[in-house]
Amino acid sequence: MFTRITSYTLYGVDAIKVDVEVHTARGSPQFNIVGLPDKAISESRERVRAGLINSGYKFPLERITVNLSPADLRKESPAFDLPVAMGILIATGQVKISDLESIAMVGEISLDGTVNRVRGLLSVADQCSKDGIRTLLVPQDNAYEAAVIQKVRVIPITSLGQAIAFLSGNSEVPSVQVDLAEIFSLNGKYDLDFSDVKGQEQARRALEVAVAGGHNVLMVGPPGSGKTMLARRLPSIMPELEVEEAVEVTRIYSIAGLLPSGISLLTRRPFRKPHHTISEVGLVGGGRFPRPGEISLSHCGVLFLDELTEFRQSALEALRQPLEDGEVSVSRSLITVTFPARFILIGAMNPCPCGFRGDRSIPCQCPENLYRQYRHKVSGPILDRIDIHIPVPRLTRAELLRGPGGEVSEIIRERVKRARDIQRKRFVDQRIKENSGRTHYSLRT
Ligand SMILES: Nc1ncnc2c1ncn2[C@@H]1O[C@H](COP(=O)(O)OP(=O)(O)OP(=O)(O)O)[C@@H](O)[C@H]1O
Ligand SMILES: [Mg+2]
Ligand SMILES: [Zn+2]
Repeated sequence: MFTRITSYTLYGVDAIKVDVEVHTARGSPQFNIVGLPDKAISESRERVRAGLINSGYKFPLERITVNLSPADLRKESPAFDLPVAMGILIATGQVKISDLESIAMVGEISLDGTVNRVRGLLSVADQCSKDGIRTLLVPQDNAYEAAVIQKVRVIPITSLGQAIAFLSGNSEVPSVQVDLAEIFSLNGKYDLDFSDVKGQEQARRALEVAVAGGHNVLMVGPPGSGKTMLARRLPSIMPELEVEEAVEVTRIYSIAGLLPSGISLLTRRPFRKPHHTISEVGLVGGGRFPRPGEISLSHCGVLFLDELTEFRQSALEALRQPLEDGEVSVSRSLITVTFPARFILIGAMNPCPCGFRGDRSIPCQCPENLYRQYRHKVSGPILDRIDIHIPVPRLTRAELLRGPGGEVSEIIRERVKRARDIQRKRFVDQRIKENSGRTHYSLRT
């Protein structure tokens, strides 16, 4: 007997349709999965076998061949467990399902037959809607990710048994619904606000200009001057994410397996602060099955490189092309995938090794040659990609204790939005493409 079930695999941040074809025949008992399966898929055989038996079905003593088509596409996901198990049950007549048209399913099965979460469900659901799939069975644990795509009916599944009951019409499982407007109004706010920052008028102004124009920034100042504090507040003055942007960002986190359980859509702009020991792959993405790196996790938001001088030269070097392109292409043997990576880069560093060169009260202790070596470290790789340099001086105790902080983020954000609107209109009117990212402001130190 033969049956075919629709499933999906991930390719970069996209999902691709995979036909799971199950063929059973008499002969010595065998269970093969073909279609360039990797080790994960051979492990899937054991899970499917145990899952079937522990759900009360028979594992057939026949020759079972599973073909994952297209065969030449490399697949890694445990998400085929559910369609493979279902296919075997249908092909051996243990389960009768009248209509599998326009239904797709993904899910890992554990040995006891429960269905576990998989990565990338938002991308899967998005592709389903493009492929005309109307119903998608997914692990209940991360069903909310898929439900953001409103054109697809998303059915949350906890076990193989429940999936069978649903498909054979023996039980109702309500589809998962999410209210996008509500998600934005509940989760769109930021915890940190610019009004916490006292003084630093020049830095605040420069950061506002950077956000309005999409410029990268380097903050130079002594320890404790508030560089980290300022950087962390940057997302709060950027315009709110559009729904399409939120979906893009969420797809990246979903692919990276970083979406918290119960969260269907990320509605805040990302802020990432990788440690300076991070590898090139960790920063820009890659791996045997390419995963997004920090620059893609910062997409639509802020990548903060604190202690910029401490980062590996090779890692900084690897940032250059993505900073130019707004995306990154990662190749590993047969696969090349492209991840989006449009972000504002904020670097921070001390002005010198001891940290206090230029400080109003503490003198710099650094010998001139050490100082020059230090500045040289960052000058090569990416300094020419950073338009705005701001000095961030240490405030005195008196200044820190003095009166209220500055403007709240919301007011700054409104000005940023107006500035961006004006820019956009000017580009449309004059049909010029310049002024988009490489303009130099006179804020260099
Ligand atoms: N302008 C400011 N307004 C209010 N608090 C400030 C300000 N500047 C510094 N602080 C306080 O000092 C603390 C240290 O600041 P922060 O960690 O941002 O400094 P930094 O420049 O990143 O230092 P480092 O170089 O050591 O990383 C802040 O958490 C905050 O409490
Ligand atoms: Mg800091
Ligand atoms: Zn010094």
